Amino acid sequence: MLSNLRIMIDKINELLKAVENFSPKSLEEVEEFRLKYLSKKGLIPSLFNDFRTLSPDEKKVVGVEINKLKQVATEKVNSLKASLVVNDNSELEIDLSRPGDPLNLGSRHPLSIVRNEIISIFTRLGFIVADGREIEDDDHNFGKLNFPADHPARDMQDTFFISSDMNVLLRTHTSSSQAHEMSEMKPPIRSLSPGRVYRNEAISARAHCLFHQIEGLYVDKNVSFADLKQTLDYFAKEMFGEKTKIRLRPSYFPFTEPSAEMDVSCTLCGGKGCNVCKGTGWLEILGCGMVDPNVFVFAEIDPQVYSGYAFGMGIERITMLKYGIKDLRLFFENDIRFLEQFSSVY
Ligand code: PHE
Repeated sequence: MLSNLRIMIDKINELLKAVENFSPKSLEEVEEFRLKYLSKKGLIPSLFNDFRTLSPDEKKVVGVEINKLKQVATEKVNSLKASLVVNDNSELEIDLSRPGDPLNLGSRHPLSIVRNEIISIFTRLGFIVADGREIEDDDHNFGKLNFPADHPARDMQDTFFISSDMNVLLRTHTSSSQAHEMSEMKPPIRSLSPGRVYRNEAISARAHCLFHQIEGLYVDKNVSFADLKQTLDYFAKEMFGEKTKIRLRPSYFPFTEPSAEMDVSCTLCGGKGCNVCKGTGWLEILGCGMVDPNVFVFAEIDPQVYSGYAFGMGIERITMLKYGIKDLRLFFENDIRFLEQFSSVY
């Protein structure tokens, strides 16, 4: 049989280990610990019950050990209480000298930045945004816009057809929105339709099968070509700077008559001639014209009463000119090194 002395020493060592290993997470746990070990009926004071049964020599040895244990436990409780009080007060935990965590802010896509800018210029003139649809029927993309049945633009080369009867397709221009607006809204109409358009073209630095346009349409009584020119002049100056000049060259679109293409004075050399404008001093940026009377007839608007103008521009083209971007493919690759360069613009 083990002696009482041995049993007590083992018990004391066991308690000492438990005290040393105690690692509470809250003040409540510390208090529980204190009650269990140090209160009047706790484990350490009750060691003295057995202590009485020992011989005087044994008492000397065990007394020292019990007192040591009591001291260790008391110190442990006190220091734990102090440190948990500090930790509980979260304010004291903040190190005010630490540098802040850098927040990675996203940036708008350059095409969105320029689209928003174009929209904001025209909404100041009273235009409203009317979204179109990317999947169209032949009628809205071509027919109602006065494209003859045999027009080459309907050819498989340019248009992505979705249905085998070639009636459902991905719109090739935002002018399809014009056809919707004129048959679904009553004049006066002053609308702006931004969005994606699709053409079956080989992808290169200057062409893509997917790009973005913005269409403008104004239908009212007495709308003249002079109104169109004035509006576009205002747009060019707002977009590219006050000194920008415009020039209109005669052109052809089935849905406008007369039609024109608009150039702006070169954004780089200001008109003197450089390699961006290929020495001409001018950059082509959009197509426009007066709404063809046939288009009004298809939309059941009386061309004797109403007139209107329309214009359409490529957002990629304007963005490339504005930011000096040379390769169209950059817009679609989502290379973070390219996109990050626009993080300071909204
Ligand atoms: N839809 C024509 C294009 O894609 C642009 C245009 C729009 C021309 C409106 C005239 C009027 O090239």
